[in-house]
This record gives sequence, C-alpha cells and structure tokens, in this order.
Amino acid sequence: MVNTAQRLRVAEGQGERAPAPTRTVPCMQTTWPHMLFPRPAAAVPLVFPFDQPALRYRYFARNAVWDAIRLLGLAGERVLMPAYHHGVELETLLAAGVKPVFFRVDAQMHCDFEDARAKAQNIAALYVIHYAGFPQDMAAARQLANDLGVPVIEDCALALLSRDGEKPLGSFGDVSVFCLYKTLPVPNGGLLLARGEFARKLDTLPPAVPPPIPSTASHLIGSLLSNLELRTGEVGRRARQAMRDAGRWFVSRANVERVSTGTQHFNIADVHLGMSAASHLVLRNQDFAGIVERRRRNYFLLYAMLRDVAPPITGELKPGVCPLFYPMPVEDKAGAMARLLARGVETVDFWRLRHPAVASGLFPDVDKLRERVLELPVHQDLSPADAEHVASCVRELLA
Ligand SMILES: Cc1ncc(COP(=O)(O)O)c(C=O)c1O
Repeated sequence: MVNTAQRLRVAEGQGERAPAPTRTVPCMQTTWPHMLFPRPAAAVPLVFPFDQPALRYRYFARNAVWDAIRLLGLAGERVLMPAYHHGVELETLLAAGVKPVFFRVDAQMHCDFEDARAKAQNIAALYVIHYAGFPQDMAAARQLANDLGVPVIEDCALALLSRDGEKPLGSFGDVSVFCLYKTLPVPNGGLLLARGEFARKLDTLPPAVPPPIPSTASHLIGSLLSNLELRTGEVGRRARQAMRDAGRWFVSRANVERVSTGTQHFNIADVHLGMSAASHLVLRNQDFAGIVERRRRNYFLLYAMLRDVAPPITGELKPGVCPLFYPMPVEDKAGAMARLLARGVETVDFWRLRHPAVASGLFPDVDKLRERVLELPVHQDLSPADAEHVASCVRELLA
C-alpha cells in the first residue's frame, strides 16, 4: 500500500504539485466523545499526581505557580530560575514580587546546577523545569537546595505522567505544579501539589472560583471538532470550519468571555480560576497507562526514522519518561513549520519568544534553543501510521 508520504514524494518527483493533504495531523491530543461519559467522582484514577492528598486543581499551571509563591512566602525574595523558560511562569513570578536570578541551561536542555550554585547568594528558593517531559537531575537540584537550606519548586507543566525510572516527576519538589491540558484532552486544568509543612498550609490559600461555562464549552467543542477531523478527514475538516465560523459569530454576538489557554501572558484577573467540571469529567475517562505507552511508542517511531537526519535534542527515551513531543532542531523554523503544515503536519514553535527580563546573548545555548527547536507531535491520538507520516514529511523537508 502506498502511504500519503510516498504519494507526495511520487507527485513531486514527477514535477506535479504535491496534493493537498486530506487530513491534518494535529499537534495536540483531542477530546473523544466517549470521554464525556458521566462517571462518579470516586472514579478519579489513582495515579500520581492525582492520588496525592495535598493537591489543588486550578484553571492553569500559572495559577498554581502564583499559589506556590504565596505558600512559600517568596514575595520580594530572590529565586534561582532556569534561563530557558516559557515566559508565562516567569511573568507569574514577577507579578508575585519574586526577583529571579537566572542560571544556565545547556544545549541538551539540562539545567546547569553548578552555574546555579555560583549565583546562589541570598536565595530563597530553587525553581526547576522539566522540558518536554524529560527529567532534570533532581538529585543535584535537591543537593543544591539542601546546601542552601531552601525549598524546590518543581515545574512539571510539560511533564505530567512522566517519571525518572520509578520516581514520578513532581514528587521531588517541596511544591510542584502541573499543566493538565498540555498532555490530556481537557479544556483547562492545572495542579498545585504541596508536601510537608507546605501541605499543611494549603488551606490558607483562597478557594478557587469556577471558570465561565461558555469559555470551557468553547474549548471543549473546539477539541471535539478537532477529534472529528482526526477521525473523518475532509468531512470533519469542513464541519469544524463551519462550526468555527458559527462559533465566532456567536462569540461576537453574545459577548462570551473566553479565558484562553496556552497564552504567553499572566493575567491577574484569572488567578483564582479553578478547573472546570468538564475537565474533571474528561479526567475520569482517561487511560493514563495507555497515554504514556502511546506517547513513548510514537517518540520511538520518530526516533527510529529521524535520528540520522534530525536527532531529538532530548536523545533516547529513558525508562518512565512520558514525552510531550519530539524536540527537533531546524535552521529555518518558520519555513519548516509552513512546509510541514502544507503536508498536513501541525507543529509547535517551542519558546522562540524570549522574555525581556533575560537579555539576548547572556545564555547563548538558550538563545540557540529558542531559535531552533520545533516540536513534532507524539501525542496519544497518533497511530503508528501517523507517526510514520510525520517522520516521512520531515525527511522530505530535510532532503
Ligand atoms: C514550563 C512552564 N511552566 C508553566 C507554564 C504555564 O502553564 P499554563 O499555560 O497552564 O498556565 C508553562 C506554559 O507553557 C510552561 O511551559
């Protein structure tokens, strides 16, 4: 059987224009209708971190970061922070009154805890980020924090369900934050997990406010339509487009308040929003072991097909790791993204934008990562054929 990638190659070889793809491989997992099946709250799966007692559900991970700063009493304090970050977590720290002290992250996305140690004067906490689900050296992080006598904030926004061997990411910090909607098909959701003395102080945080229903509905419908397109191709694509147009019209008429996820900026007005009931429902309908298994399989497939031409920044998969995506270095990110999209592969530009708090040139490895890293999808909705299609398109692009 000839697959889409081979058809594209043949068409191009014959001097024809490549056929428009009938189906786009989405860069994010989608919500399947059966995930809205009503289940009792007791059906919440007992996997880390959902099995932990000192847990708070929030609309975003950034809200959990805000709460973490309050819990640790870090307003006005200096906090060691990796120079490679999304930007919204940094905005949250700055809005909460933290003074960040940046340390180096190397070209393989490893935190340089020796650089952090060299900058650790009058420090009140250590902030660590696991990139794309790949674990940092948490033994080194803990050693540094213990030597300084400060707590660790473990940012697992990109590392839900991931482990370092047997130990779950998020179980190393004194407080940990997670983003749910990056790994799972929920319309919104973030988590704050606290341990020890901080767990006992969780009740001092203000209660979460339920998010606006129209906003959650609009995210949920978008993801269900994305799923329809994934399953039915062209028919679903047209239905999605029609619904999108109708949705835009409705939103403009009804003045619907939409609290967008995945944005670059912290908004204090949304800081007390909690997770929606719809997200709780979708959460009860997840097969977590299956998600990890499929993400690992898809990463393995991309790795096997691409390691000679586009090895991932993060290297081979170690046991337990749940990859968020396959981080591939490219010279012309915008061009590569456009050409892959033309072949029906959605990708994400990983952190090109630098927050002005970190001057360009101070961390050359980080600048290079921002310029070059492109995310290829490995999520749970991709079949082995989809992963093969993604890899074939990348090979063509690089040929
Ligand atoms: C490392 C990191 N921390 C925190 C966040 C904030 O996540 P959320 O969008 O759920 O607020 C992000 C968002 O991309 C992130 O990449």
